[in-house]
Amino acid sequence: MPINVKPLHPMFVGEVQDVDLSKPLSDETFAEIQAAIDTSAVLVFHGPKLSEDEQAAFAERFGPLYADNRILKTGLKDRIGPKLVDISNLNENDETMDRADRRRIFGLANRLWHTDASFKKVTAKYSLLHAHTVAPEGGETQYADMRAAYDALPQKMKDRIADLEAEHCIATSREKLGFTEFSDEEKNTLPPVRHGLVRTHPVTGRKALYLASHASHVVGWPVPEGRMLIHDLMEHATQPQFVHTHTWQVGDLVIWDNRCTMHRARPFDLDTYRRDMRRATVMDPDYMDAAVQKTA
Ligand SMILES: [Fe+2]
Repeated sequence: MPINVKPLHPMFVGEVQDVDLSKPLSDETFAEIQAAIDTSAVLVFHGPKLSEDEQAAFAERFGPLYADNRILKTGLKDRIGPKLVDISNLNENDETMDRADRRRIFGLANRLWHTDASFKKVTAKYSLLHAHTVAPEGGETQYADMRAAYDALPQKMKDRIADLEAEHCIATSREKLGFTEFSDEEKNTLPPVRHGLVRTHPVTGRKALYLASHASHVVGWPVPEGRMLIHDLMEHATQPQFVHTHTWQVGDLVIWDNRCTMHRARPFDLDTYRRDMRRATVMDPDYMDAAVQKTA
């Protein structure tokens, strides 16, 4: 039976209405989900909570996950297993983190517009974010359609940025909020990388802006001029007509294509509410090949 996808926005984002991800999925259904992501870029599923293994197993059908998801080296016990990223305001004792906790401060930058893992050589294809506990107010996630944003640029700008690369680094987005306390080990793990400002989707052939708050400057340009261009393009891409807001319910799982969207979390009361989200992140096979070629 074909899946039913209800559009939630004129340009992107579909809601899958009749698939329970806790049940086995046939290859046919999976292929339809895959096709729906290619079209919609963001897909919303409602359903029962998935275990870590169930979420990871579903994500792995789209490709391999990152082996190491931990950026901060805290030495503290993780709340969840290594396959998923803990996107919560909870500490190793499952209590809300206090204001001085490095993990809480580090996580604040998720409220800046970004694309997951743009600061890595092997960038992310998909993210699958799953809600275990939601804040009763705030804590939404917003998505921006970077294909529509690219399409809306004047031809002159499309020509100007066609071959430009930006440098991305995890420290860049954190420095924007004044967080600079990375250890040498943390800095050495993720040196800056370069990626084109425009990415072509391998299935649809649609071009998209590839931007993030991790991007510091344009390669070969004076830093202020490149930074201004990135700022202007991000401002353009996050105008209301390109943006959808997802309000979370427990059990929701949202998949997005990082090659053609940006996203950001919205604020909530970190001291009062618990927000427990877990992310599986699928590597982009095109960049896995490129990384292998570069090191060969
Ligand atoms: Fe993110």
